[in-house]
Amino acid sequence: MSTTLRTIWTTPSRHIEVIDQRKLPHEFVVVSLKTYQDADLAIRNMTVRGAPLIGATAAYGIYLAVRQMIENGLEGSFLDEAFSTLRASRPTAVNLFWALDRMQSALDNANDFLDAAWDEASKIVEEDIETCRMIGVHGLPLIEALAAKNNGGTVNILTHCNAGMLGCIQWGTITSPIYQAVQKGIKVHVWVDETRPRNQGANLTAYELTKHGVDHTLIVDNTGGHLMQHGMVDIIIVGTDRTTRQGDVANKIGTYLKALAAKDNKIPFYVALPSTTLDMTIQNGLTEIPIEERDQNEVKYVVGKTTQGQIESVLICPESTNAANYGFDVTPARLVTGLITERGICEASEAGILSLFPEYN
Ligand code: MRU
Repeated sequence: MSTTLRTIWTTPSRHIEVIDQRKLPHEFVVVSLKTYQDADLAIRNMTVRGAPLIGATAAYGIYLAVRQMIENGLEGSFLDEAFSTLRASRPTAVNLFWALDRMQSALDNANDFLDAAWDEASKIVEEDIETCRMIGVHGLPLIEALAAKNNGGTVNILTHCNAGMLGCIQWGTITSPIYQAVQKGIKVHVWVDETRPRNQGANLTAYELTKHGVDHTLIVDNTGGHLMQHGMVDIIIVGTDRTTRQGDVANKIGTYLKALAAKDNKIPFYVALPSTTLDMTIQNGLTEIPIEERDQNEVKYVVGKTTQGQIESVLICPESTNAANYGFDVTPARLVTGLITERGICEASEAGILSLFPEYN
């Protein structure tokens, strides 16, 4: 794996291919998306996941819907249905709605629907790659400064969930500064939260850090506070699925607790985000961001590889126990040290965001 691998790509016959992230880290399986229903299912069942990749998959989903409509001589209502189905695929990551809105405007202004849908989806993908690369350019000085403070010693970074290249197209958001630091020879070590219940940290972040040769250690989700109390974390960097106008940040469940512990231990807590994850239409993340609730079996069962090499799902509680499965939580802006964006780093506040993105004034 290198920083040039992509998580979504097109074939010469204009099919869309993605990595089945449910199979990682044990198997690398490629899935072909041939219809918008395939794209919708891939988002819902988390074959693809991560805010930017969800947006890109939905965009290509609309391209596939346009193709199905033309090839089968279907009415425009088929496309409307594709938009509404994809809009309902997951609720929290705003990139989904942003990408679908972009596809809608591209089609509203198009002469050739198929070319317009293809071009717009391709643009969304290319822009995300450059955006994530720039997040790395702006985030790198934070890591360089910590390396200097440690007299060239290792910089310990803690992260939660997967906001790496697997959640984006290339580079990733939190991993872009990390990969760029490693390329510059800076010593970096990453504490990887396993991120129950879907284990995106254990399955995905650990996988891509391994493939990129980045030193890392997997920890259970409750370990971060202890590490912070003992000076073993220099900085926390997490991703986000939606960031509000006042700088509140929704990210994978458990992020808020890391931010609280960071505040208590005076450890910088940064959020890396492409501006496509900003939702400038809302202020208060706690009341206005829809939090996904998923199937309780994701909590009750754990999937893993047995010593015999079989992938199995095992029950870890009494069959009749009820489980709650909230996918995300909201970290209030007051706990966020800064937002690392493609245009630079800003305070997590309306004024901070507007200083980099004045077009939202
Ligand atoms: O449920 P997931 O795996 O889609 O959640 C992903 C996250 O919470 C990521 O941290 C976030 O989307 C940022 S991805 C760059």
